[in-house]
Amino acid sequence: MEEIVGLCKRRGFIFPSSEIYGGYNGFYDYGPLGVELRNNIKQAWWRDMVQRRDDIEGLDSTIIMHPDIWKASGHVDGFSDPMVDCRESKLRYRADQLFFAPVIVAGETIGYVSVVECPQQQEIAEKAAADIKRKAAKQGTLEPIVLKDYTESKPEEYDLVPSPATGKPGSLTAPREFKLMFETKVGPLADDSAVAYLRPETAQGIFANYKNIVDTGRVKIPFGIAQIGKAFRNEITPRNFIFRSREFEQMEIEYFIAPSADWKALHREWIDTCIDWLVSIGLPRASITEDIHPEDKLAFYSQATTDLMFQFPHGEQELWGVACRGDYDLRQHQEHSGKSMTIFDEASKEKYVPHVIEPSLGVDRTLLAVLTAAYTIDEVPNDKGKVEERTLLKFSPKIAPVKAAIFPLLKNKPELVERAQALYQKLQRRWNVFYDASGAIGRRYRRQDEIGTPFGITIDFDTIEKDGTVTLRDRDTCEQRRVTEDELIQFLEEQIDG
Ligand code: GAP
Repeated sequence: MEEIVGLCKRRGFIFPSSEIYGGYNGFYDYGPLGVELRNNIKQAWWRDMVQRRDDIEGLDSTIIMHPDIWKASGHVDGFSDPMVDCRESKLRYRADQLFFAPVIVAGETIGYVSVVECPQQQEIAEKAAADIKRKAAKQGTLEPIVLKDYTESKPEEYDLVPSPATGKPGSLTAPREFKLMFETKVGPLADDSAVAYLRPETAQGIFANYKNIVDTGRVKIPFGIAQIGKAFRNEITPRNFIFRSREFEQMEIEYFIAPSADWKALHREWIDTCIDWLVSIGLPRASITEDIHPEDKLAFYSQATTDLMFQFPHGEQELWGVACRGDYDLRQHQEHSGKSMTIFDEASKEKYVPHVIEPSLGVDRTLLAVLTAAYTIDEVPNDKGKVEERTLLKFSPKIAPVKAAIFPLLKNKPELVERAQALYQKLQRRWNVFYDASGAIGRRYRRQDEIGTPFGITIDFDTIEKDGTVTLRDRDTCEQRRVTEDELIQFLEEQIDG
């Protein structure tokens, strides 16, 4: 992760927000390359999920909506995380990410260990338990360390579990509910009637507009409404770079189906569609797994949820949630707004409140997944034939921030420069391309490899003196071949837009 964060900063993908003031925890800014990558991911999703499908409509709703929407959806009362404070260090943890266990030697509890969730948590806890046993000079067998999260702690344990910050017991509070929605005030009044929320998901904007789209569009069941937009959550522990931040962006679909439809089959279809899309933007199929939520952990209205998990640098974590939410949301809005949410199904001649399947994906998490999959270190020969290590980002051409770089072989030969500039300007009309004339050609290739530019195009003397062909270099294999300008354009079209 550190290497990816470093590369992102060095090459202008992602910066900590408000960095000149020391940064602002949980907020990130996207620099010149980051914004291109981000836009390309969103455009690919929009094209594949909305424009290339006849059954999905797009929407762009406001970030601040009527506060009653959040009462109806259950967010005002229920959108919170259990948190625990360390009174001494003033650090705050999510209770379900703080793990603890009693240290039991020969049947007697001689202390407790605690650890913040991480891939090595078991190992760390076992080592800490062995230290406690050694310090206590207690003879006998150390029983296996069985970690539980802090939401499962009992009141009599609060004073016994050590704070991960200080290593000492007695400073942790009981788990308390912490509201995740950011509040603001709308209008000139400063009292409670002015309280509004920054949306914590884009989904409710879809439900709130469902009726408008049914009434004004030509949709028929099954159909979906898709939205891309910012969401805000006052996360207790924003961490792992852009994986969990306080301001992020979501790409969500609410796919409305008949109550009598085979929702299990449609759920499966959506899971497969989502996996295929992730693979299409360059994530290896082997790095995506499915986490099926057990029935006893589902929200009361939910029929099923499967999370698509990705192997991030900090472990296997949720990337895309695909949930079957029944008719809960529309019924809640029907009840709270007094407006009917029924639809007339032409095919079955029935009137009903549809059920919904919700694929919900974070833009920033997708971007981190894409960076993780693309980040590669290999060895290639330099200009002098000496093998050197190189860092490259193997982005799919579909989402790469810069699609191709155009190089005149030498910058002091006007005829090469002129020809390269002409090609650059031609390609620039269609794609984000880059022109670079400075430095040795090998160095120029490396600079582009590091930002993931898939193709290098070099104009040399053969181009101007012989047949007009250019050298086309592949980022991943470093292989070069000569192509005509027409072949080049056709190839780029296939690779980038295909
Ligand atoms: N409407 C359903 C919903 O919002 P969620 O599982 O809370 O469900 C959906 O969020 C997706 O949004 C997640 O799978 C993740 O990709 C992204 N996401 C959620 N919280 C995030 C955060 N704090 N930072 C970055 N991405 C987040």
